[in-house]
Amino acid sequence: MHGDARKTAAGLSYLSGFGNEHGSEAVPGALPEGRNSPQRAPLGLYAEQLSGTAFTEPRAHNRRSWLYRIRPSAAHPAFTRSDRGTLRTAPFTETVPDPNRLRWDPLPPPPAGTDFLAGLWTLGGNGDATRRAGMAVHLYHADAPMDRVFSDADGELLIVPERGGLLLRTEFGLLAAEPGHVALIPRGVRFRVDLLDATARGYVCENYGTPFRLPDLGPIGANGLANARDFRAPVAAYEDVEGPVEVVNKFCGNLWTARYDHSPLDVVAWHGTLVPYVYDLRRFNALGSITYDHPDPSVFTVLTSPSDTPGLADVDFVAFVPRWLVGEDTFRPPYFHRNVMSEYMGLIEGAYDAKASGFVPGGGSLHGMMSAHGPDRETFDRASAAELRPQKVDDGLAFMFETRWPVTLTAQAAGAPHLQRDYDAVWRGLERHFRP
Ligand SMILES: [Fe+2]
Repeated sequence: MHGDARKTAAGLSYLSGFGNEHGSEAVPGALPEGRNSPQRAPLGLYAEQLSGTAFTEPRAHNRRSWLYRIRPSAAHPAFTRSDRGTLRTAPFTETVPDPNRLRWDPLPPPPAGTDFLAGLWTLGGNGDATRRAGMAVHLYHADAPMDRVFSDADGELLIVPERGGLLLRTEFGLLAAEPGHVALIPRGVRFRVDLLDATARGYVCENYGTPFRLPDLGPIGANGLANARDFRAPVAAYEDVEGPVEVVNKFCGNLWTARYDHSPLDVVAWHGTLVPYVYDLRRFNALGSITYDHPDPSVFTVLTSPSDTPGLADVDFVAFVPRWLVGEDTFRPPYFHRNVMSEYMGLIEGAYDAKASGFVPGGGSLHGMMSAHGPDRETFDRASAAELRPQKVDDGLAFMFETRWPVTLTAQAAGAPHLQRDYDAVWRGLERHFRP
C-alpha cells in the first residue's frame, strides 16, 4: 500500500509560487476562460468559490479560489457530532497556564490502525477559534491511511512531518510531504492523508488567525528567506467516486461527521490564490551575521500570520536550517533569552545547536512568555571556549511556532508520561564565573 502511494508521489508535478493566481485542469477544457461563473460551466461541472479571506480584504492578501466540480459542496447530508479523540481547540481551559520551561519526548506509538486524523494529539494553544485568533500546537502519530475525508473550519493546518512521508489528497490535487518539508492545508479545504511509509509522525500548527504569508523582507531586499517560487501547489486531480464516503468537519472545536454519497474530492479544475502547498525547508535561504553577534531568530521566519499590530505575529513559523556560523568574538549558539512571545520548538532531525541532549526528533519544548531559556551548560561551556573558525551547523533541522500569547496546555499534555520531569536540570550546572 505504501508502495502505491510512493509511486503516486514520485509521479506528481506541481505549480510554482506563493500567493499568485494559479490555475489547473485535470481534463482539457474544464477550466472556463474569461469568467468565473459561466451560465453553464464546461463539461457539466458546477462552479463554486472558496473564500479564505473576507471578500473585501486588500488585494495583496486576498485569498480565494474557484473550483469546478462534479457536484457542488452544498450537496451533502447533515453533520452529526462525533468523537474528537485527543484533538482539542482554543480557548484552552483544561489547565492553569504554566510558567515553567517544559519539554516532551516524542509521542508514544499509536494503537494499530490509527489514521492521521485519529492520530492528532493536542499539546495546547491560545486564542479562540470562534474569534479566528490564536493557534494550537498538535502532534500526530499515525500508522494507517485515511479512508475518510477531513476539513478544518477552525483554521489552516501547517503540517511538519518528522518521520514518514505523507501523500495529501486534497480538493486541489495531490501533494507529497516528506520530513524536511512543510505542507499547508487552507481552512475548510477537504483532504485525505495517505502514508508514504509504515508510520508517520510530526507536528501541526493550527492557525486560527490570518492565513500564513511570507514575511516582508525590508532591507534584506527582494530575495531571501523562503523564496516564493519554491512553494509548490498541486495540479488538479479528482476522484469520481459514487458511494458512501465519510467526511469529518472540525468546527469550533468539535468533530462533525456526515456520510456523503460521493467523494467530495471531485474538483476537476480550479483557479485562484487560495491553495494548499508544500515547501522544502532545505530551500530556505538563511541569512545571518557576517560580522558579530547572533541575530534574533526572526531572521529564520518562513511564514507569518500577522495580528492587527504591525510586526506582532499571531504566530510565526521559524526554521533553523543548516547554515554557516562565522561571527567574530561572538557566542554563536542562541543566546540566553526571555521573550514576551511564547516559543514552542520541535526537532525534525539531528540536534539543535543550543541543546547537547534531551531535545530529540519528535519531541518538543515550550518556553512561554518571559520564561528564561537558552543554551544548556554543556553547550555554553563548549561555545565559550570554541575556536571561532567558520563553522557549518549541519547536523539538525529544528523549527519554532512562536506566538504572541501564552500556550496553555491540554490536560493530556500537562500530565503526559512523556513530559520530561527534570528539564530544569539543563540549566542547573551553570556556574558563577564572576571575578570582580
Ligand atoms: Fe527564545
